[in-house]
Amino acid sequence: MSKSKSDCPRWLAELNRRHTRLLMLCDMLENIADSLPRHVTPALCRTVATSLKPELDRVCEIEELFCFPYPTGLAEAHASSETLCRMCREHEGDRAAAEEIVRTLTKLAHGRKDVNWDATGYMLRSFFVGVRRHVANEQCMLGFSGTQASRH
Ligand SMILES: [Fe+2]
Repeated sequence: MSKSKSDCPRWLAELNRRHTRLLMLCDMLENIADSLPRHVTPALCRTVATSLKPELDRVCEIEELFCFPYPTGLAEAHASSETLCRMCREHEGDRAAAEEIVRTLTKLAHGRKDVNWDATGYMLRSFFVGVRRHVANEQCMLGFSGTQASRH
């Protein structure tokens, strides 16, 4: 993937689309959290378990490749190097949390009940609340404010 300026509209458009998908996955995670422990839908757990990591990984990849070094006045005005380091650490934390969530959702997709329901609910809620906030901040920084992330 090159980083030429001509790529900017393409990666920005892809990032916006993928942010939308990530927010949809957050809505599904909220649905699952609300359904615990007796009304879990295995098919929904399977869908999220399959999509969450690839979607999150691609969003992080696009942001780290293109957004973080994006040399615009907007980036310089709103994102110090300290902020960018924090955003990279947040990506690491989100990815680790997503791996744990996928493990648990895979159990639920197979109808297993050997999970701690309170801990699972807390894990799902902290993840989707954090990711919604994360996406909203990045959408705002990229000038997408007023789009989908602002609804949360
Ligand atoms: Fe990010």
